[in-house]
Amino acid sequence: MNEMELKDGVAVVTGGAGGIGGAACLAFAKAAARIVVVDIDAEGAERTASEIRAMGGQAIATRADVSQSADVQAYVKRALDTFGRIDYFFNNAGTEGRVGPLAEYDEAVWDRVIGVNLKGMFLGLRHVLPVMIAQKKGAIVNTSSVAGTVGAPNLSAYSASKHGVLGLTRSAAGEVGKLGIRVNAVCPGPIETRMIRSLAGMSNPEDPDSVKRFNVGRNPMGRYGDPAEVARVVVFLCSDAASYVNGAAWVIDGGRAAI
Ligand SMILES: NC(=O)c1ccc[n+]([C@@H]2O[C@H](COP(=O)([O-])OP(=O)(O)OC[C@H]3O[C@@H](n4cnc5c(N)ncnc54)[C@H](O)[C@@H]3O)[C@@H](O)[C@H]2O)c1
Repeated sequence: MNEMELKDGVAVVTGGAGGIGGAACLAFAKAAARIVVVDIDAEGAERTASEIRAMGGQAIATRADVSQSADVQAYVKRALDTFGRIDYFFNNAGTEGRVGPLAEYDEAVWDRVIGVNLKGMFLGLRHVLPVMIAQKKGAIVNTSSVAGTVGAPNLSAYSASKHGVLGLTRSAAGEVGKLGIRVNAVCPGPIETRMIRSLAGMSNPEDPDSVKRFNVGRNPMGRYGDPAEVARVVVFLCSDAASYVNGAAWVIDGGRAAI
């Protein structure tokens, strides 16, 4: 038995319409899981689910705003009604907010970033954990960021939310490890998705490409990551190959945070 195989388990992925979450849906499908694709972008979620079905896999799509308790309860119910269990949960949906100094930061943007990135993670754990506790089995990966391990000037709400995700991850891991459930986090550095392009556009609207050149120039591997490179670590963390990995924060950044 290949320990990286997920043995027909059921994976719920938030933010699955594209980017890192979309790549994770495909990686879960390749590892033989059945997938519930969750996103606020209903069309994008359906595109990902269709792609999996076209590969011969099983997937459904469901629209949810992860910051809303009723939506989270609804995607958990949909997963259970369709597949009967939840073995893997990639708690990943996130938003970047705005780039700007803390002294001028818009309060409504702050509330939205914390609402999606931190409360959304809490709500996911709050409603998926009871399912996994009843099963006495499960693996969860929360998406933090390198900005969850060090500060990010001009991106304070985002950085604060991602620090919070690590606090939630470690607390949850301490609570449910004895119940057969592992909870870990991934901390990606710059990954080539819509979000990193949006951040570059806000940082330097006249020359967004200069932001990438700057970041790539300081990266030991000289490039941005591909979403699939995060997705593979997520599947590994959910698999039995990571059976003693719990409460960890896996940095996936080409070595940027190491220097
Ligand atoms: N791209 C990077 O460089 C990078 C680095 C570190 C961490 N991250 C984190 O990775 C995760 C995925 O980001 P990405 O880079 O793939 O960006 P992305 O914008 O491509 O994907 C984010 C997805 O989340 C969805 N989403 C946003 N708000 C939502 C909500 N309220 N409810 C449900 N779905 C919602 C979006 O529709 C989108 O499909 C985020 O948590 C992000 O903070 C990204």
